[in-house]
Amino acid sequence: MRVIIEDSPAAACVKAACIIGEQLQRKPASVLGLATGGSPVGVYDELTRLHNCGELDFSKVITFNLDEYVGLGPDHSQSYRFFMRTHLFDHVNLPQGSTHVPDGRSLDFDSYCESYESKIREHGGIDLQLLGIGTDGHIAFNEPGSSLGSRTRLKTLTSETIRDNARFFGSEDAVPRLAVTMGVGTILESRCCLLIAYGEHKASAIAKAVEGPVTAQVTASALQLHRDVIVVLDQAAATQLNRQAYYREVEDAQSLLESGQLGKLGIGDE
Ligand code: GLP
Repeated sequence: MRVIIEDSPAAACVKAACIIGEQLQRKPASVLGLATGGSPVGVYDELTRLHNCGELDFSKVITFNLDEYVGLGPDHSQSYRFFMRTHLFDHVNLPQGSTHVPDGRSLDFDSYCESYESKIREHGGIDLQLLGIGTDGHIAFNEPGSSLGSRTRLKTLTSETIRDNARFFGSEDAVPRLAVTMGVGTILESRCCLLIAYGEHKASAIAKAVEGPVTAQVTASALQLHRDVIVVLDQAAATQLNRQAYYREVEDAQSLLESGQLGKLGIGDE
């Protein structure tokens, strides 16, 4: 796991957008896995800015979102499809039909969820999956106790998640009780995972996810089993990490390597 600690949430968003941008430059027809919630908003703003400057082209990109509330249609102001339109889809040149957000109004969720998984496979799998984290350590809507091998399916939200997300709905009663969500197993199949978190209220979940035991009680901890994970944090979200100093040393060494300053790493005879 690569852990990058930036000075502020804004800097963390720019860093995450930069990582996504590099992915699109390497592979213009990338399949991106996208997330919702407060955390990715700044990332989408930066991606939009880069697109407007002519630095990012989404014309060949395919996207798959992690999850959707059950019962909300695409025009509901709190649906994740609406969120994605507002924060990204309407601002970049993603062709119609290239974006996929689970449908929260299916009448047959079992077959719908299977078809969502098939579509991801048909497009060759997800190259880079953006993730936020819940205060209980969940990714997408994989609440504590979700199988670490789980696939796209219906999930009942915990009272903690309902409380956390009530800020978007005005009251806890208005938050849907169920969601359709990619599973932990689905997420782990992405070629690269990019987890972002800001603020002190995420510090405990981040410490458990990054340095705690791998457990279904903190589904983000399953990312420790993945070979290519980048975690981008602000300082507040990093406060409970025991190995902060080491993560910073790794990043310093990485930038010396990238800028060719090999002598400072004791390589060569500079
Ligand atoms: C919801 C979403 C998650 C998101 C989490 C945290 O539960 N399903 O994908 O990571 O909220 O959201 P926020 O970034 O608003 O804290």
